[in-house]
Amino acid sequence: MGIFSGKEIVLGVTGGIAAYKACEIVRELHKGSASVHVVLTASGAQFITPLTLQTLSKNPVVTDLFNLVSESEIGHISLAQRANLLLIAPATANIIGKIRNGIADDMLSTVVMATAAPVLIAPAMNSQMYASAAVRENVATLRERGFHFVEPDEGELACGTVGPGRLADVGKILEMGRIILSEKPLAGKRVVVSAGPTAEPMDPVRFLSNRASGKMGFAMARAARRLGAEVTLVSGPTALPDPHFLATVRVRTAEEMLGAVTREAEGADVVVMCAAVADFRPKKPSSRKIKKDGFGLKVELAPTPDILESLGRKKGSRLLVGFAAETDDLAQNAREKMRRKNLDAIVANDVSRIDIGFESDNNEVRIFFPDGEVMDLPLATKDGIAVGVWLALNGKLLRR
Ligand code: PMT
Repeated sequence: MGIFSGKEIVLGVTGGIAAYKACEIVRELHKGSASVHVVLTASGAQFITPLTLQTLSKNPVVTDLFNLVSESEIGHISLAQRANLLLIAPATANIIGKIRNGIADDMLSTVVMATAAPVLIAPAMNSQMYASAAVRENVATLRERGFHFVEPDEGELACGTVGPGRLADVGKILEMGRIILSEKPLAGKRVVVSAGPTAEPMDPVRFLSNRASGKMGFAMARAARRLGAEVTLVSGPTALPDPHFLATVRVRTAEEMLGAVTREAEGADVVVMCAAVADFRPKKPSSRKIKKDGFGLKVELAPTPDILESLGRKKGSRLLVGFAAETDDLAQNAREKMRRKNLDAIVANDVSRIDIGFESDNNEVRIFFPDGEVMDLPLATKDGIAVGVWLALNGKLLRR
């Protein structure tokens, strides 16, 4: 079950060319099992029809404050009160100015004024307008008052100029929505998460690696951010884009990951090693592409540094959490790794199964603690498992 599930989201759509992107926002929220109520301004209705948004949201679209039917059926106060989140995307300079100045002359500005729900504003406008003193000042004041913003992207705008002003990526807007709606048990914590495989070069074109896609580690990083932590993700080579609203450090080899994790671990409260670090590397990588017969069918290997073990030797007050990728004797092997690497917990998954573990979108894990306690998290999406792991760690180790 995702964060939007069962939530009432009021989506304000104002008049800009990006209004068509409201369709994608409605669809994604609806897919996440949110109940979406669209409030379309008069200028928004010049760009997109109420019928389109009504069809996608499966709820009546409200356009006019003074429409007797919609006011009696929905009502601006009722909308304002039932909202868990009020999202305005795209937001014009006009609506931002109205909100800042307390003007409530249409349905959307009235609902904003009447709501106690968090308000998330995603501006979209011409670059010069966005850079204008009036808009900068209005945005700064609204931020001070607790309004949330997702800054526009840079790029070519519909008016032909190039610069900031394009509505932010829909995924980014929705991620900020999830962050706002999540409980914050990890607030004030600094967290480092590693993810993905490492790739150990043999020559400029070949490397030794493994099947890790990064999905589990990225989910751990996203979940920690949503739960309120300040997060740095150290990722080996993956096809996944950098997650929004957290710092990502990209590395390739185990040696590079050791350097990045050690550096980021300074001052961190928790380090979670979810990466599948290659245990071996070719001993003498060639600077030139090795010819087909050049290996002699033998590659001499050397061990890579064990990152967790090295952190475990100078642990301090920081919590160290490992993941264990097992194919057999899961409990015994996981406990042995936890003891040997001086960990506070280890999250074990069965990587012999094709429905969980490597590459899959789902996982099923057992969390082992040094005092003998074991917590089982049943099959769920990696996002769901990640939240479960953090809540378990928080309940047992971090709250103390
Ligand atoms: O990326 P996905 O496709 O989503 O797959 C997720 C996953 C299966 C990779 C993930 O859930 C997982 O199990 N990660 C740990 C993989 C692993 O390397 O396990 P291990 O049992 O070999 O190592 C135990 C721990 O030591 C791990 O926390 C590992 O990061 C750490 N380690 C290992 C070797 C090394 N040289 N340095 C380390 O720090």
